[in-house]
Amino acid sequence: MLTLAELKPGEVFFDLGAGDGRAVIMAAKDFGARAVGIELREDLVKRALGSIYEQGLQDRVTIVNGDIFSVDLTSADVIFLYLTTSANEKVKPKLEVQLKPGVRVVSHDYEIVGWKPVKVENFCENQTLGYPSHTIYLYKKV
Ligand SMILES: C[S@@+](CC[C@H](N)C(=O)[O-])C[C@H]1O[C@@H](n2cnc3c(N)ncnc32)[C@H](O)[C@@H]1O
Repeated sequence: MLTLAELKPGEVFFDLGAGDGRAVIMAAKDFGARAVGIELREDLVKRALGSIYEQGLQDRVTIVNGDIFSVDLTSADVIFLYLTTSANEKVKPKLEVQLKPGVRVVSHDYEIVGWKPVKVENFCENQTLGYPSHTIYLYKKV
């Protein structure tokens, strides 16, 4: 997903619903981005912070224990979503207002209805399945 979004060193990456922080950690560690994860669940925030400190990434990764709807996204270069179609629908107006033109939005498995993706990629998480088990939608803010 981060490769598809062409995430570059120094860019600002947001994961809206960051879970245990795996995407923000990868964005900082492997892509040299500054990463911000927003997560409602305190237990997941604690887990993410534990991994971030363990890997010495605290200067490049921030975790906000809060709601994605109350976060300022105007500094974002890349937005990552792994929510649901209905959550994407709710966050869409915020993305339309706050994102700069050119910002890449990657959504795992759930499309943003009404937006036209610039790329859709299917991939197999488990090769033994033999069929694509996930889809990534890449959008570019106009
Ligand atoms: C499917 S998980 C994705 C986790 C992570 N992005 C990843 O790909 O590994 C979705 C996460 O979004 C969080 N979430 C859902 N609604 C949220 C909201 N309004 N504000 C912040 N986090 C939210 C959930 O608690 C959950 O951890």
